[in-house]
Amino acid sequence: MRIDIITVLPEMLEGFVNESILARAQKKGLAEIHLHNLRDYTNDKWRRVDDYPYGGFAGMVMQCEPIDRAISALKAERDYDEVIYTSPDGERFDQHVANELSMKGNIIILCGHYKGIDQRVRDNLITREISIGDYVLTGGELAAAVMADAIVRIVPGVIGDEQSALSDCFQDDMLSAPIYTRPADYKGWKVPEVLLSGHEAKIKAWEMEQAMERTRRLRPDLLKD
Ligand code: ADE
Repeated sequence: MRIDIITVLPEMLEGFVNESILARAQKKGLAEIHLHNLRDYTNDKWRRVDDYPYGGFAGMVMQCEPIDRAISALKAERDYDEVIYTSPDGERFDQHVANELSMKGNIIILCGHYKGIDQRVRDNLITREISIGDYVLTGGELAAAVMADAIVRIVPGVIGDEQSALSDCFQDDMLSAPIYTRPADYKGWKVPEVLLSGHEAKIKAWEMEQAMERTRRLRPDLLKD
């Protein structure tokens, strides 16, 4: 899959794209992440991408033209399945959305800034608006990074053990059971007996019961459906 991120702060994402799980996926040839500086698509000699809002409202608004030019340049090269805009008033990003997006071919993520983007971009160019939570960030870069990480890590083959992505918490709308490693007894803090028993069915049942208990206690909202 390919993710093109349009941003006014490409430097902020460079380290992340070239390290982390995204670097691993790219080395394996399973994903490509490309950063595009929105300022490269402006004709303005100051490379401005924002202007005052009509109506005298507070704040600055990202203009149509640079965004249209950036998205059009990408679309001229290949087809895109989604053009996503990161915004606190978008649909909530969760594991289901990550799963769905990981199955797409090419996506564009446009990082919002200032007060937001001109509504005409949202109406005509954006196919999906996504929020990573009910709080307002300074810009969409962290949201784009969160989404790219969650999407790319579940592309088959990116993390070594397929099973480990499938058993992530939230994959079944449940939190995960607790996990332990050696030693079995550390300062008297003991690993639950059942995990040392080698009895597969009993271990599975314990895992389910623990996951359910944790979910009920910490995230009962997940069990509503
Ligand atoms: N931009 C600012 N806040 C955001 C949020 N919560 N999610 C996505 N993009 C954002």
